[in-house]
Amino acid sequence: MKIGVSFPNYLLIQFNEPPSKPDEIVLVNNQKYIEARDQLVWCVFMEEAKKVSDSALTSVRWMFPSDANPAGNVFGGAIVRYIDEIAAAVAQRHARSNVVIASMDRMDFHRPVRVGDLLILKASVNYVGNSSMEVGVRVEAENPRTGEIVHAASAYCTMVALDENGRPKRVPRLIPDTEEEKRRFLEAQRRREERLKLLDSKT
Ligand SMILES: CC(C)(COP(=O)(O)OP(=O)(O)OC[C@H]1O[C@@H](n2cnc3c(N)ncnc32)[C@H](O)[C@@H]1OP(=O)(O)O)[C@@H](O)C(=O)NCCC(=O)NCCS
Repeated sequence: MKIGVSFPNYLLIQFNEPPSKPDEIVLVNNQKYIEARDQLVWCVFMEEAKKVSDSALTSVRWMFPSDANPAGNVFGGAIVRYIDEIAAAVAQRHARSNVVIASMDRMDFHRPVRVGDLLILKASVNYVGNSSMEVGVRVEAENPRTGEIVHAASAYCTMVALDENGRPKRVPRLIPDTEEEKRRFLEAQRRREERLKLLDSKT
């Protein structure tokens, strides 16, 4: 066993061969953990893994009349487009391959965005499956004149990495580093399970 990198509450461990006590291994959707001293220890079996911060992005767009209706309210569809765009960029940075959006979870628009506002999109990979990645996007609107910032919308996008033949391809494992990233990882894992149940029930 080779200990790779040490994180605050984590050890990234690479095994040259499966550990001697395989019953300690918890398999969660192809991601392997072992329990050690009441901690979840992240195990990567000689596979490439990337941190959340390796692909996370923040973008800022100034909202112009072309994004809005005549009353100056930005179209929900324009915001969805920007979410799709940043989610794809983040997923491509994680997978380093072409990606498509497979689904976007229910989206709520919490506050209106107005022409002249700065639309701030913060996006990062929450969880990876085999070929899919859940990218969380938080949208804030800032009035640059007053400095007021509101939470305008949030979305969870499932992006799928494709190989050169357009078929889903395996993506690097994800290393959640901070407490927030670990919380998002576990929440995203539950959402994925719900999504898969829903997909199964439709087929
Ligand atoms: C997404 C797509 C590549 C999946 O292809 P597929 O042949 O169904 O492949 P699979 O069944 O192997 O699924 C691949 C992965 O996508 C996930 N997936 C497929 N459909 C999904 C959906 N509706 N919601 C969430 N995840 C989905 C699967 O769970 C699987 O994840 P995993 O590899 O992490 O376990 C295919 O449906 C597609 O190309 N869709 C069109 C995408 C597109 O054009 N988007 C632009 C919007 S119009």
